[in-house]
Amino acid sequence: MNILGINAFHGDASAALVKDGELVAAIEEERLNRRKHCAGFPGLAAKAVLSGSGVAPTEIDHVAVSRDPKANLHKKILFTLQKRPSFTKLVKDRLANVAKVRGLDDALAAALGVQAKQLRAKFHNVEHHKSHLSSAFFVSPFDEAACLSIDGFGDFVSNMRAVGRGLDLEILDRVEFPHSAGLFYTGITQFLGFHKFGEEWKMMGLAPYGKPTYVEKLRQVIRPLDGGRFELNLDYFRHHSEGIEMTWDDGSPQMGLCFSPKLAELLGPARDPEDPEFFGKWADIAHSTQVVFEEIFFHVLNDLHARTKLTKVALAGGCALNSVANGKIFERTPFREVFVQPAAGDNGTAIGAAFFVEHSVLRRPRNFVMRHAYTGPGFTDAEVAAAIESARGNGSVGSVGSVGWDPTISVRHLEDADLYREVVTAMTAGKVVGWFQGKMEFGPRALGNRSIVADPRRADMKDILNKRIKHRETYRPFAPSVLEEKAAEVFERSEPSPFMLMVYKVKEAMRAKLPAITHVDNTGRLQTVSAATNPRYHALISEFERQTGVPLVLNTSFNEHEPIVANPTEALNCYLKTRMDVLALGNWILTRQVQADVDAA
Ligand SMILES: [Fe+2]
Repeated sequence: MNILGINAFHGDASAALVKDGELVAAIEEERLNRRKHCAGFPGLAAKAVLSGSGVAPTEIDHVAVSRDPKANLHKKILFTLQKRPSFTKLVKDRLANVAKVRGLDDALAAALGVQAKQLRAKFHNVEHHKSHLSSAFFVSPFDEAACLSIDGFGDFVSNMRAVGRGLDLEILDRVEFPHSAGLFYTGITQFLGFHKFGEEWKMMGLAPYGKPTYVEKLRQVIRPLDGGRFELNLDYFRHHSEGIEMTWDDGSPQMGLCFSPKLAELLGPARDPEDPEFFGKWADIAHSTQVVFEEIFFHVLNDLHARTKLTKVALAGGCALNSVANGKIFERTPFREVFVQPAAGDNGTAIGAAFFVEHSVLRRPRNFVMRHAYTGPGFTDAEVAAAIESARGNGSVGSVGSVGWDPTISVRHLEDADLYREVVTAMTAGKVVGWFQGKMEFGPRALGNRSIVADPRRADMKDILNKRIKHRETYRPFAPSVLEEKAAEVFERSEPSPFMLMVYKVKEAMRAKLPAITHVDNTGRLQTVSAATNPRYHALISEFERQTGVPLVLNTSFNEHEPIVANPTEALNCYLKTRMDVLALGNWILTRQVQADVDAA
């Protein structure tokens, strides 16, 4: 039984393959076409998840699409009829999108290089939030759990709650357009001058620098309602009245401003994106937004607990990527076990739609738990060697860039133990290491296979990374990857966080020792690494502990202002164009002289 899940014409387009009830591959289109958050049709991803799986396009039994133009249709029509003519553009855009979703079989056949009539698969439309809920519950270890999907919007809904039991999701309720906790967060993110799609991280990272001085004002923008519901004060938004301009094609999505001019009456003028100042008032607004978002998030979750009396919860939707809020679930709700799927955003709906068909439609039993996120492409030792040879031989790195080879680079092939030892020795000398191993991660976080790793003990490491590679806002924190069995020695909580979706406080005694990963509010967005799911990364961190006594490393994604690198050539390109010192590509290690004097300057 082969089910292809597709998230198409929505942010973070992606594809997933579920074969006999197991997730065998899941990939975001952006990693393959190199356009961040790409929202088009995931043709490359669909082809990639099939390749290596032994499943031919003609052997796909079902295609599950994570949206349903017919879902909540009566609400959409009613809402549209109530609106003025100015709303017609939004209606037109929506109809154009519906047409695209209906033409998916042709798009898929073309992407897979077959005729549409050769595809014998049955197509299913799965409502967006049912896909989110399925992406969490059906791959969780829970037989029964409370489930929450919370995001901006999808299929006219922003919030859906359910009870998951076995093969079924019993939907409890929905919060419909135009009300949305995700849109609240996005709106204030935009107000702070972060206008690109998916920049909510920037506000979350800024929040700890501020004070809660705008909480009262922001409580006027979104309000809790009885029954675990909430509503926006629509005076402060324009998505419901004018519609928001969205560019939803093959490139990176672009989204117009969703807040109205009235918000400036409440908070003062919006921040200019060019303003070099991030702190002061802006950090206070970020902090207050996080506080008010958490009030709504825990209002929704506590009511869900009260209604279900369950102690396990499965979360998905873009707001479930708010790792700061996730880390407080154990303190602020009665839930005792939490599962957040690594691609909790719209990328993960490809998985969710596929498992919804597998279980809720086909009634096939559950036999899979998503214990890791390494579902992307992997490369053999010979393929890595060929990529290095090509880069070295041509004097440049082929089609992904034109950066020349550096003749000071040495290339060696090491046994595992030597590789770990040498990489850690370089890290402890303050060097920055590209760590490219095994299969690529699914979801927004690099989890030790497409990562840049460094020594978390160095106070200057944040600056070094920013100067040499990341060039991002200097206030933003870097994250730690800690041995799962040692997490409790470093952090105040020890509940696992395998997908880097929980923020916990660093223990007081450890804070001064770990300046590169301890955020200004003494927290860290940790990844707990287990030997069972990533033995090589676990071995590397174990070697770091052996040499330093510290059971964690700094981990940031392997990229420079682009989607995370997917293949060895992209890793080589990133290595050559930045001033990364060492690159570990599988068992191949590349080292070069890096100008420490430039850092000092
Ligand atoms: Fe979503």
